Amino acid sequence: MEVCYIMKKILVTGALGQIGSELTMKLRDIYGRDNVVASSRRKKEGQESIIESGPFEIVEVTDGKQISEAVKKYKINTIVHLAALLSAVGEHDPQKAWNINMNGLYNVLEVAREENCAVFTPSSIAAFGPSTPKDKTPQDTIQRPETMYGVTKVAGEILSDYYFKKFGVDTRGVRFPGLISYDTLPGGGTTDYAVHIYYEAIKHKKYTCYIQKGTYMDMMYMPDALHAIVSLMEADPDKLIHRNAFNISAMSFEPEDIYGEIKNNIPEFTMDYDVDPVRQAIADSWPNSLDDTAAREEWGWKPEYDLPKMTVDMLTKLADKLKK
Ligand code: SER
Repeated sequence: MEVCYIMKKILVTGALGQIGSELTMKLRDIYGRDNVVASSRRKKEGQESIIESGPFEIVEVTDGKQISEAVKKYKINTIVHLAALLSAVGEHDPQKAWNINMNGLYNVLEVAREENCAVFTPSSIAAFGPSTPKDKTPQDTIQRPETMYGVTKVAGEILSDYYFKKFGVDTRGVRFPGLISYDTLPGGGTTDYAVHIYYEAIKHKKYTCYIQKGTYMDMMYMPDALHAIVSLMEADPDKLIHRNAFNISAMSFEPEDIYGEIKNNIPEFTMDYDVDPVRQAIADSWPNSLDDTAAREEWGWKPEYDLPKMTVDMLTKLADKLKK
């Protein structure tokens, strides 16, 4: 089916991060390079393709004025707000995680209210906690997370819904699982092992896993994650019963599953364990798998990649990248 995209002028915060670096390029392909403004709190080496392939601004999300100036300068009507600290780094500095994740989102929502912008903000499987049903976690359920990252994600979901109901700001979001990609490394999450394992499998044919055998978590390959963002942003608002944020799911696995799948492709690959208690405790508090029926029904969510398909693609693309 031919998709007809509605004209957008988009500001991406955190555009040089794991999601942002790939999403910015995809959005530029869809909406035109000049209609997608990448922003980050600083320029990073190796990210020239994003900085140079369209407009780029330095924006510190904890400073609302900087967001407002960028929105006005480019006549932005949609903010994709990705700047945030992840779960593991958040536990090392919870105050900083609160400041960036909560104040950053509050500033984005305030600018969106004043300048009439739509807002997409990712939530996470981290928005759940130990009292949440663990298997096929429902869309609407108990959310009592025990990490600062999770606290900011639940609060962010509620705040985003509040801005929709109170002020009519078109806020939307998904609860991302662990995201696996070869372009930019994740910035300190609990699920990062499922990215590192591919790098180590190619580089050293062995990996030491910091997550315990048998620990299931939901995961997703980046192309599906990008597709989710664009589809939800383009979804017919009349069909949305939920907004912040939708469960989405693609695959659920434990370390032995991904190890086995990589071994199918690289027979000499070996793995051992050195469990990190901080990240293990976080993983244990999260669901094993999510029920994404609401996303499927309300905006047609459907993932393309399972573990075997992702592994073949990831190993091919990453081997290519590491050769350069
Ligand atoms: N990948 C994230 C993390 O591990 C979950 O949203 O922190």
